[in-house]
Amino acid sequence: MQHTIDLTVAFVQDRLKFAESGHDWWHIQRVWNNTKLILQSEQADNIVCELAALLHDIADSKFHDGDETIGPRVAGEFLASIGVDKLMVEHVQQIILNMSFKASLGEISFHSKELEIVQDADRLDAIGAIGIARAFNYGGYKNREIYNPSIKPIKHQNKEEYKNTSAPTINHFYEKLLLLKDKMNTATAKGLAEQRHAFMEKYLQQFYAEWEGKC
Ligand code: ADP
Ligand code: NI
Repeated sequence: MQHTIDLTVAFVQDRLKFAESGHDWWHIQRVWNNTKLILQSEQADNIVCELAALLHDIADSKFHDGDETIGPRVAGEFLASIGVDKLMVEHVQQIILNMSFKASLGEISFHSKELEIVQDADRLDAIGAIGIARAFNYGGYKNREIYNPSIKPIKHQNKEEYKNTSAPTINHFYEKLLLLKDKMNTATAKGLAEQRHAFMEKYLQQFYAEWEGKC
């Protein structure tokens, strides 16, 4: 099975050679590491989890007219080509299809412990120190203000509205990042998320204090 993982790593690294920085190989490597950390204290099929973590962002639907079937299809073709068992391929495909934030907004149609773990691993990469870096990187790419005290965070009704906002990056903390802790599926990820969440809270306190010239 180590050979299957090695081949998959090489495939994903090659596919993501020119990926944008929010979903590049380093994001995949972090999600894979988070997955392995969660698996140290959760019972599941490790190979399915690792393969899904490695393949979960190979074809971001944002760059394919919102087509969420491309990722699972490419992943399935690859896994079949290296001889992975059909049932395992199907499970990995289901995980990739169902783990997006959109799916978690109510369109989810599949459940498994393995999906829960990889989804948690992906969400952990959106919070804490890494999450802060990714948010400001995204905001910079979009040329957003870092903060504007007169623009208040809002509760978004759907993914499109959330994607099309031009709000300052600090608002993203209240609109998504600080909500992720309570969306964790597994007890292990909840524990990890608590620490990362506390770090973000502390960061925000310091941010406002500096903004107001209080320290
Ligand atoms: P996912 O891969 O979970 O669907 P997204 O594509 O929504 O994630 O976002 C990728 C990264 O960019 C995440 O770390 C996310 O927090 C960040 N991001 C997304 N939208 C915004 C935004 N409006 N402001 C700041 N950061 C954002
Ligand atoms: Ni991801």
